[in-house]
Amino acid sequence: MSTERTTVGFFDSGAGGLTVLAEARRAMPGAAYLFYADTDHVPYGTKTREEVLRYARRAVSFLMERGAEAIVVACNTATSMAIDDLRAEFPLPIVGMEPAVKPAARVYPGSEILICATPLTIAGKKLHTLIDRSFPDGETPTLAALPGLVAMAEEERFDPDEASAYLEAAIPRHEGYAAVVLGCTHFGYFRDSFRRVFGNVDIIDGNRGTVRRLISLLGGTRGDGEGSVTIFESGRQVCDPGRLARYARLLARAQRAAEEN
Ligand code: DGL
Repeated sequence: MSTERTTVGFFDSGAGGLTVLAEARRAMPGAAYLFYADTDHVPYGTKTREEVLRYARRAVSFLMERGAEAIVVACNTATSMAIDDLRAEFPLPIVGMEPAVKPAARVYPGSEILICATPLTIAGKKLHTLIDRSFPDGETPTLAALPGLVAMAEEERFDPDEASAYLEAAIPRHEGYAAVVLGCTHFGYFRDSFRRVFGNVDIIDGNRGTVRRLISLLGGTRGDGEGSVTIFESGRQVCDPGRLARYARLLARAQRAAEEN
């Protein structure tokens, strides 16, 4: 490990990306993180592809101007809608997130798998291509769009009773799955509720894989001093103590979820 500090830009529509940032800070605590929450436009999951692409371009170009050496699109929806364009347009490494369908299919061949994501990710071509590739024998996983969890996370409504009731109502069948894939970074805050509703299933997200990919693109972890996190909301640095406290609470919650996972 060298002492040179690396600057990494993270972006999401909102607080979901903090669940990926938490994982990155565990693996690479000494980095300088720039976290861009597009709070002017959250949620992305009910917007159009064109809108999400426009927001994603703005976020990447902002983070690049601020000195990011690599970008993590800590949002499955933005990855699904925009990653190919972003990689073609910006001259820096960009790591995307895709629902962990491939690992779920590999570990549980022939078993029932539930894939949860936003409505836009579920409607997108990328997920269906991924499903076709991951299940060559034609098994069909169950898909569930859960935009309600995005709103709950943004409003810090983490009451497991409320989230469990939402999951029960939004997904018709609760038994028989070997794995539940969390295909939206906001859903990582609700692992306890998924567990309550689906019992002892494997709950899989792509956070660790994404961080591994980031570290490999950076050529290893760098910086063994104190790390830092700077927060931006749609391009404005967050300085208001109340807003900063909100991000500190959410990041602490994401950090606990990452440690328990
Ligand atoms: N956190 C995002 C994702 O991973 C998007 C949630 C939203 O804004 O709808 O898909």
